[in-house]
Amino acid sequence: MALVTTTEMFKKAYEGGYAIGAFNINNMEIVQGITEAAHELNSPIILQASKGARAYANSVYLVKLVEGALALYPDLPVALHLDHGPDFETCKDCVDSGFTSVMIDASSKPFEENIEITRKVVEYAHDHGVVVEAELGTLAGIEDDVKVSAEDSSYTNPDDVEEFVTKTGVDSLAIAIGTSHGAYKFKPGTKPQLRFDILDEVVKRLPGFPIVLHGASSVPQEYVKIINEHGGALKDAIGVPEDQLREAARSAVCKINIDSDLRLGMTAGIRTVFSENPAAFDPREYLKVGRKNVKDIVSHKIKDVLGSEGAALK
Ligand code: G3H
Ligand code: 13P
Ligand code: ZN
Repeated sequence: MALVTTTEMFKKAYEGGYAIGAFNINNMEIVQGITEAAHELNSPIILQASKGARAYANSVYLVKLVEGALALYPDLPVALHLDHGPDFETCKDCVDSGFTSVMIDASSKPFEENIEITRKVVEYAHDHGVVVEAELGTLAGIEDDVKVSAEDSSYTNPDDVEEFVTKTGVDSLAIAIGTSHGAYKFKPGTKPQLRFDILDEVVKRLPGFPIVLHGASSVPQEYVKIINEHGGALKDAIGVPEDQLREAARSAVCKINIDSDLRLGMTAGIRTVFSENPAAFDPREYLKVGRKNVKDIVSHKIKDVLGSEGAALK
């Protein structure tokens, strides 16, 4: 199977009450860890690359790495997605180079401007058989070099969503309901709680329409502990409770974005090897431990959080 768009994936996920995991890729080991897990569990998967990932690895390598995974697992439904596309040109470049889905993130711009940029991307992408995700509302945290403070973040206003989707023709919509990017999502001592009331209001206005959750890492404490026990310094790293993500996946949320958890897994693996064997200097020795953690984390998400196990067979 060649790369697919997310259209069919989202339709089945919506009807089946599960979500597709969108995992960020930056290098070969991460692509391998994610796709090995998805293959073993017959789960459709979205591999997404940010502007920073494309600059780090060179987008050509990322596309070829994903093609490599498809050559190994020809029956696996895989979409290649641009995460947080900052402008039309970046989206166009991805459409032209084999991505099957792009996100245009103009969520920090005024509403009308967000509509205008998104519509331009949709026109170009749809002409080339590529689907588009856009965002309304602003998440706190750091994406590439853009940092949004908690004070400047804002929940999605459900009254805006219908107009936005109608005027842009976008295929899926990322909303802000209390998640944020990175490993420090909630203040220590507070109870993390997503705003399901906002999600419900959005769904009322957009019945059947696929919703996307960014900033959905759970920051597994076992990996934070391993990192800290092996020389790391991640204090008060807190993520989204997995039961709340499972609840979101059962409703209109069809795509759940996870990056930080993979970073934690990779880091925990590498730190463990280095601290237990300071003489290690073969990159294969430490990267394979990180890769195994990435695979374990993705397997857990597919089985216990997203609910997408076996969906590739249906
Ligand atoms: O949303 C942000 C993702 O975690 C990607 O992060 O922009 O540092 O590659 P990045
Ligand atoms: P996390 O930082 O919670 O993993 O979010 C990733 C994300 O939203 C990528 O777009
Ligand atoms: Zn994001």
